Amino acid sequence: MAVVLLLLLLVASAVSADEDSFIGVNVGTAVSDMPSPTQVVALLKAQNIRHVRLYDADRAMLLALANTGIRVTVSVPNEQLLGIGQSNATAANWVARNVIAHVPATNITAIAVGSEVLTTLPNAAPVLVSALKFIHSALVASNLDGQIKVSTPHSSSIILDSFPPSQAFFNRSWDPVMVPLMKFLQSTRSYFMLNVYPYYDYMQSNGVIPLDYALFRPLPPNKEAVDANTLLHYTNVFDAVVDAAYFAMSYLNFTNVPIVVTESGWPSKGDSNEPDATIDNANTYNSNLIRHVLNNTGTPKHPGIAVSTYIYELYNEDSRPGPVSEKNWGLFNANGVPVYVLHLTGAGTVLANDTTNQTFCVAKEGSDPKMLQAALDWACGPGKVDCSPLLQGQQCYEPDNVVAHSTYAFNAYFQSMAKSPGTCDFKGVATITTTDPSHGSCKFPGSSGRNGTLTNTTSLAPSSNSTSSDSPPLHIHNVDPFTISVIGALLTSTVFL
Ligand SMILES: *[C@@H]1O[C@H](CO)[C@@H](O)[C@H](O)[C@H]1NC(C)=O
Ligand SMILES: *[C@@H]1O[C@H](CO)[C@@H](O)[C@H](O)[C@H]1NC(C)=O
Ligand SMILES: *[C@@H]1O[C@H](CO)[C@@H](O)[C@H](O)[C@H]1NC(C)=O
Ligand SMILES: *[C@@H]1O[C@H](CO)[C@@H](O)[C@H](O)[C@H]1NC(C)=O
Ligand SMILES: *[C@@H]1O[C@H](CO)[C@@H](O)[C@H](O)[C@H]1NC(C)=O
Ligand SMILES: *[C@@H]1O[C@H](CO)[C@@H](O)[C@H](O)[C@H]1NC(C)=O
Ligand SMILES: *[C@@H]1O[C@H](CO)[C@@H](O)[C@H](O)[C@H]1NC(C)=O
Ligand SMILES: *[C@@H]1O[C@H](CO)[C@@H](O)[C@H](O)[C@H]1NC(C)=O
Ligand SMILES: *[C@@H]1O[C@H](CO)[C@@H](O)[C@H](O)[C@H]1NC(C)=O
Ligand SMILES: *[C@@H]1O[C@H](CO)[C@@H](O)[C@H](O)[C@H]1NC(C)=O
Repeated sequence: MAVVLLLLLLVASAVSADEDSFIGVNVGTAVSDMPSPTQVVALLKAQNIRHVRLYDADRAMLLALANTGIRVTVSVPNEQLLGIGQSNATAANWVARNVIAHVPATNITAIAVGSEVLTTLPNAAPVLVSALKFIHSALVASNLDGQIKVSTPHSSSIILDSFPPSQAFFNRSWDPVMVPLMKFLQSTRSYFMLNVYPYYDYMQSNGVIPLDYALFRPLPPNKEAVDANTLLHYTNVFDAVVDAAYFAMSYLNFTNVPIVVTESGWPSKGDSNEPDATIDNANTYNSNLIRHVLNNTGTPKHPGIAVSTYIYELYNEDSRPGPVSEKNWGLFNANGVPVYVLHLTGAGTVLANDTTNQTFCVAKEGSDPKMLQAALDWACGPGKVDCSPLLQGQQCYEPDNVVAHSTYAFNAYFQSMAKSPGTCDFKGVATITTTDPSHGSCKFPGSSGRNGTLTNTTSLAPSSNSTSSDSPPLHIHNVDPFTISVIGALLTSTVFL
């Protein structure tokens, strides 16, 4: 008996690894032409999105989600929090109307009570834990507490001194809320909901955080962040923030509450002072995030422990106030067209299929026009690119400038070289992108024929016809020969001087 009890205690004493992690998507609705609930659900199904979080408990949305198998987190909006936190009856009513009325047809698996309450609605903080408890007791009364977890999403800004993670702690002003909250989460076997935004950490770091570290890109070992206390190596901001939350919880002596990331993402567009809100960065972040989460990699502190994550967010919310980036966190436009095509491998996973190989070579922004011209001349000459589409009257003549023309030629060369490494350099004036530069009737080699306007739900399917498998005319090793030929020409002319 004592042995069994001890085992139970041991099992309960650490974050456990009994579940695979999942990727979900947040569904914000500040969209001027918001699709109908049926259209939203059609998109979720087509994209194989099996987990969503709603910012409310909209009846039509919950009805549309019925019998789809999609797991749903519903939310108590901040506006309703004070009422619910002050009245058990109001809470019970809310649960009856928004949860009990919909289960089991709609698979509601969690209730997010408020959103970043401590940082956005601090005057409701004193009733936050009561609100969770009242909601939970209504679930208990209907015997739904086993399948529906109750928690509240936090901004990561409540974690102070978050690097190194081992020194992180929750802002102590909030101890009177955090301690009973953690007790509640622990005793109800719920999880800690955390919003993780490496984009903002990067933006606010004034250059201390390298972009690659925020985007989960490989870092040279000397740039990897090492926690001097634990000697754990951090290769990305996301893991560091999640571990900071684990350490902050253990600082309060809670070591067995798992974390679910309720929001994470990257904006694809921003103001002039948000230069890193780009389609490429958003695609890189979200693609890498999805791979990282679904791989069950866990974090350095808890390797292999699921950190399920909801991407922020499904749609670009054009009606949101604030900077341009605020309106551009979505994976899709309101019409269901993807803002970008994620680089993901493998059928059956969320957000579909491998499109990794859809890359293009383009002129680098701000390059010296003379360098571009020289590289263009080289590509259309010795580089053996078919530049006839660039001739006057042909489909890629417009716009008639050196940037557009060299982009066409660089890409044609890159594709003809089967995109081998080093064939998109051109002495540094070219760069690789995932955005198809095709425009109008000008189809770029390597484009799957769509010109960025992907019209249908099959839009994330693998690209079909591409010229990238054409055999390369020359054997090239690691660098495009333009770089070599320029050096060669310089040497030759030196000889003649
Ligand atoms: C609802 O979701 C839970 C948690 O993922 C799962 O265990 C359960 O089987 C689902 N129920 C239905 C009816 O799909
Ligand atoms: C709150 O209401 C639930 C039923 O919804 C009941 O089981 C519980 O005892 C009540 N709690 C308090 C503190 O009144
Ligand atoms: C901690 O929280 C309090 C209360 O919200 C706030 O005034 C204070 O600035 C926070 N401390 C830090 C270092 O962020
Ligand atoms: C955590 O536990 C340690 C050892 O039992 C104790 O000294 C410390 O006061 C506890 N901290 C909190 C915040 O409860
Ligand atoms: C997947 O997990 C394994 C270990 O479980 C790790 O070696 C590998 O780097 C991970 N891949 C990604 C993309 O995170
Ligand atoms: C991914 O590709 C496979 C094979 O091409 C296909 O059967 C599957 O339906 C695709 N998945 C999605 C979500 O499009
Ligand atoms: C992508 O390209 C690489 C090399 O060019 C190749 O090895 C890989 O199989 C390709 N992936 C797909 C899904 O076509
Ligand atoms: C390309 O975009 C134009 C509008 O910009 C559209 O009319 C045309 O049908 C598109 N072509 C393809 C192949 O998607
Ligand atoms: C989208 O797909 C549906 C069937 O899945 C098809 O009927 C429709 O014509 C397609 N629309 C476009 C614009 O390709
Ligand atoms: C590829 O293109 C050829 C002709 O250009 C066409 O006959 C074929 O059906 C295309 N294949 C796919 C999968 O679209």
